[in-house]
Amino acid sequence: MQGRARTVDRQTKAAILCAGIAAPSADNSQPWRFAWRGDALDLHIDAGRSGRVSDTRYVLSDLAAGACLENMLIHARSLGYAADLQPFPQHDDELWVARVRWRRDPEGDPIEPLAGAIEQRHTDRRFPWRGPITTETQARLNDQARLIPGQRLWWPPTARERKAALGVIRQAETLRFRSPTLHAELFSSIRFATGWHGACEEGLAPATLAVEPPMRPFFQALRRPALMALFNRLGAASVLGWRSAWLPIRLSPGLCLLVIPSTARSDVLAGGRALQRVWLQATLDGLSVQPYAAAGVLSLGFVPIEPAFQRWLSRMGAALGQLCAPGYGLVFLRIGYARSAPRDRSGRRALASFDAS
Ligand SMILES: Cc1cc2nc3c(=O)[nH]c(=O)nc-3n(C[C@H](O)[C@H](O)[C@H](O)COP(=O)(O)O)c2cc1C
Repeated sequence: MQGRARTVDRQTKAAILCAGIAAPSADNSQPWRFAWRGDALDLHIDAGRSGRVSDTRYVLSDLAAGACLENMLIHARSLGYAADLQPFPQHDDELWVARVRWRRDPEGDPIEPLAGAIEQRHTDRRFPWRGPITTETQARLNDQARLIPGQRLWWPPTARERKAALGVIRQAETLRFRSPTLHAELFSSIRFATGWHGACEEGLAPATLAVEPPMRPFFQALRRPALMALFNRLGAASVLGWRSAWLPIRLSPGLCLLVIPSTARSDVLAGGRALQRVWLQATLDGLSVQPYAAAGVLSLGFVPIEPAFQRWLSRMGAALGQLCAPGYGLVFLRIGYARSAPRDRSGRRALASFDAS
């Protein structure tokens, strides 16, 4: 490579990656790997941190990759770089999500307001939240989703549709505690060893889950499959679905759904980009956000859970499809104004651990 001038220096490369890893990922799995090839960056899905049961066909990882990609594009633009993006460059490498070639862009507009929200954005699982979400705010969020071709937000237009959406989300969250497969996956991502006040650099720190102090010992005990099964005979999954989804959403002014045009991986990746733009705009607007992905992801029909629950899945898929057609509703966002920023936030691994060069 001698003699060929590099456009992107080391410091800029590190800054771009730092913006990338600030992105959200399901269960804080951070399933990204990066390799620089000169001024081109390859984004891969990390085989060791993806492909779990809910991530069959990499739906959750593709969403996280899209969010990571969008953060990098936005931050680089604010530094004066434009990018040529090639999604899924090699068809037989399912983990290679994108190649991005960067170049200096003297004509580009470096004013990129969303860049300022990259480090501030976070998941907030507390409630209640205040409203209202004005039509102007909704329009700003809609515009951000639409900037990514084919992507859009759906807002329940009536109380009846909001109730139906709430029903689907509650069913999906209940299923996460009722299905032994989903229960095992969910609890394995919670780092109970860090305690209820500590932080961790990967996975979910209990402190970020907003579980009420008196409920913590019970919630922690439910990580044992036998105990979960026992309490499920008394309706525990239903109560947990109510507490984790129904109640917070009822006590929040805004609920919207990211709708993607097809289930092609390139559309899921684009969905992740749109999700991130919406979330960054919401952050700039002072809004708190909690995503609910189970309803949409389980409804796609890729996740192989116990046959006993297949009927649930088809019912959920049909209900969701009816609400937001045409397209596939993938991630619900609960939004509203919190009184303060949450004390506890998810951590990130050290930048060097993402290196795939
Ligand atoms: C595709 C995707 C799905 C997610 N699903 C949920 C969810 O169902 N419930 C939830 O509380 N958080 C969900 N999250 C939020 C992540 O848990 C969160 O992004 C991660 O823990 C990192 O924390 P941060 O967003 O505060 O940086 C999801 C995030 C992504 C990108």
